[in-house]
Amino acid sequence: MPATDLETIVSLCKRRGFIFPAAEIYGGFANTYDYGPLGVELKRNIRDAWWQAMVRERDDVVGLDAALITHPRVWVASGHVATFNDPLVDCKKCHLRWRLDHIEEGQYGPVKRDAAGNVLCPNDGGELTEPRQFNLMFKTQIGTVADDASMAYLPPETAQGIFINFENVVNSMRRKLPFGIAQTRVSFRNEITPGKFIFRTLEFEQMEMEYFCFPPKDRENPAEYLALHKAWIDARLSWYRDTLGIDASRLRVRYHEKEELSHYSAATADVEYLFPWGWGELEGIAARTDLDLTAHGNESGHPLTYFDEETKEHIVPWVIEPAAGLTRTLAVTMLEAYTEEPDEKGENRVVLKFRPNVAPVKLAVLPLSKNEALRPFARKVFDLVRPLWMTQYDETQSIGRRYRRQDEIGTPICITIDFQSVGEGGQPGDEAVTLRDRDTQSQVRVPLSSLVATLRERLPGC
Ligand code: GAP
Repeated sequence: MPATDLETIVSLCKRRGFIFPAAEIYGGFANTYDYGPLGVELKRNIRDAWWQAMVRERDDVVGLDAALITHPRVWVASGHVATFNDPLVDCKKCHLRWRLDHIEEGQYGPVKRDAAGNVLCPNDGGELTEPRQFNLMFKTQIGTVADDASMAYLPPETAQGIFINFENVVNSMRRKLPFGIAQTRVSFRNEITPGKFIFRTLEFEQMEMEYFCFPPKDRENPAEYLALHKAWIDARLSWYRDTLGIDASRLRVRYHEKEELSHYSAATADVEYLFPWGWGELEGIAARTDLDLTAHGNESGHPLTYFDEETKEHIVPWVIEPAAGLTRTLAVTMLEAYTEEPDEKGENRVVLKFRPNVAPVKLAVLPLSKNEALRPFARKVFDLVRPLWMTQYDETQSIGRRYRRQDEIGTPICITIDFQSVGEGGQPGDEAVTLRDRDTQSQVRVPLSSLVATLRERLPGC
């Protein structure tokens, strides 16, 4: 069973060094979070797993790392300046500010309405102001003079950095259609009604890929384009299931209704997860047609086209975009891994059952006690494995408590060193260690000489 309430995860994240509320010593800073020593490892591992599947294991996708702050006209061409807005309303009584669409979707509980059917404040039932459109992009200033010419935006997505580099990648990498460009990076959105921990934050990381293909022969009925869209939906769904180990019963694909589609998209499907509060988006897979390349071509005066050797024509490719949230996926990975179950003694234990590939710490080297006689061999084992896998060394407190601590941070394997390993009373040790499995709690003895080979088998993809 995954965690059924968010508070449990929020508290574990802070207690065990995954995620801290930002700037707590200054009283906190709403909807921003700092990733602690284990959070940063977990985030890196999820990002690496995505990069492995999307770039390294494919010969039709390459990577990119475009500048965060770029020409402001990029955001004019993309439509973000004109249309990347949320409808905001204020309560005339308690003065709280809300996103009207979120109230109407029932995100704050049953929708309250007055006699005329107008939506009321979810907090105190007060009357709401008329909605105002609020642009979600953060503005910043380049240089020392604050005027319009020096204004720039923090990126609200990674996609546009990919589009404006389309020609650079085609020319430098001699790419033929179809091919993709992938990028993982931080994005910023001035979200007004955020909340739900790291589900919706001001600053978050995305993992996006733009897959460029030939325009369909029949633009009105683009069957092959929609089949490609469907293939990417299937591929992304199975990544969550097979690579991250998310239970299929808590994943679904939801196609957007026409009126729901983003300003750029001809068709979009979301991969959704069943959060403790209901279904929520993990990733959007959008069929963006040729909108972005055409828009940047028009805005810049520099057409972004591809030369089709067969027809000898310059064409504008169409695009499929799988756009995932890294930090949101991290929240799901935590929720999904959380388990409470009996330990060896029948007492309740908390375990994060991460797949080994994403677990922040892969191994813990635990001498049975602080006894000096155990330390040299334990340090030898530690020195052997730590260049290969993220490993903790811990000799304080009872072995049972140390197992519990490693269970709670999701370490797949503990390596225990005891007196049988080092010898006792003049008898030589067997130079073997005990491997304790996090999930089954079973223990096996392994000679030091075959330790690395055994661990390689038991930590696939690490
Ligand atoms: N380029 C397309 C794009 O950005 P999106 O659906 O707005 O599409 C993609 O964002 C993913 O980014 C979402 O599915 C979600 O996982 C993540 N995301 C978006 N806004 C977020 C926020 N404020 N906080 C955390 N994650 C966010």
